[in-house]
Amino acid sequence: MGFLFKSKKNNASSASQNLKTGKVISFLNQKGGVGKTTMCFNSAHALARQGARVLCIDMDPQANLSLLFNCELGDDEHSIFHLLVNSIRELKNIHTPTHVNEIIRTHPSGIDILPSSQELSGFELTVSGVSTSRPLILKNYLQKSGLIHQYDYIIIDCPPTLGLLVVNTLCATDGVMVPFRPDEFSKKGLGHLYSVLGDIEEMGVGEAPKVIAHIPNLMDNRRKQEQEELESISGELVEDLGEEHACVVDPFFNRAQLVRSGGQRKSVFDYQSKEFQGLQHQFNELASIIKESDYGHRG
Ligand SMILES: Nc1ncnc2c1ncn2[C@@H]1O[C@H](COP(=O)(O)OP(=O)(O)O)[C@@H](O)[C@H]1O
Ligand SMILES: [Mg+2]
Repeated sequence: MGFLFKSKKNNASSASQNLKTGKVISFLNQKGGVGKTTMCFNSAHALARQGARVLCIDMDPQANLSLLFNCELGDDEHSIFHLLVNSIRELKNIHTPTHVNEIIRTHPSGIDILPSSQELSGFELTVSGVSTSRPLILKNYLQKSGLIHQYDYIIIDCPPTLGLLVVNTLCATDGVMVPFRPDEFSKKGLGHLYSVLGDIEEMGVGEAPKVIAHIPNLMDNRRKQEQEELESISGELVEDLGEEHACVVDPFFNRAQLVRSGGQRKSVFDYQSKEFQGLQHQFNELASIIKESDYGHRG
């Protein structure tokens, strides 16, 4: 018996069965500081550099991804929050005259970004009284707005919670990437994450998305204990999910280059020097996993 609460051996997604084009990929872990935003930002750049049309959506009220894309919003500027609220007819009295084209920004990399704002932290409360299916607000919005047909990939950065924002993201998602720190707490955390994926199926709002990769991050190769933790976690993932679904990628080590590029709001691809080549290769690998993953319902 492994550590996961619910086995997800056959979790090929049909969560977004009606979508004709874009694949929605989210970076998820309820813990903060594991590298979600960093991985999301650099993987999006890798995909864009390989020619894909990419939209990034920042679903974290802390707006760290928006910041990396140089999309800091002023107090009166609107965000993904307003688009979601506007998509709910019952909330007409708080609708704002906001059009998606005014909110989407195009970054010099060619990546489009739908920024977040602090208001997003009030999303759960704002929609608490509506009779619309609350977990499906984002999914329905991506379809109704047509955004899903305009991009090859929609890459979503999640907040460090497992609340309604994350449930909305998961319901809209085809493939989940799970960055984690291989420490003694991560087994319990991953178990909790998988139980939320199981809850989604039980809510009757569709099948849970497929976890396409687990990404060990912030490894310190001088610490033997981390190596052992990672081996133990990988082993249990294989035991619980099966070899085919456990996909644990090569670990990302604690690298000053990632701190520096993030601080300068740049991706690792913006640097020519040799010291960035290893990271560029790793993010290209993540992009390949996203591109080549079998999402089950797309044939
Ligand atoms: N492999 C790494 N090496 C060094 N610093 C990293 C690495 N991954 C992430 N970081 C840094 O750790 C901090 C937290 O990462 P972040 O992506 O914001 O995590 P999360 O979104 O999960 O909270 C950031 O300052 C980021 O630059
Ligand atoms: Mg983050």
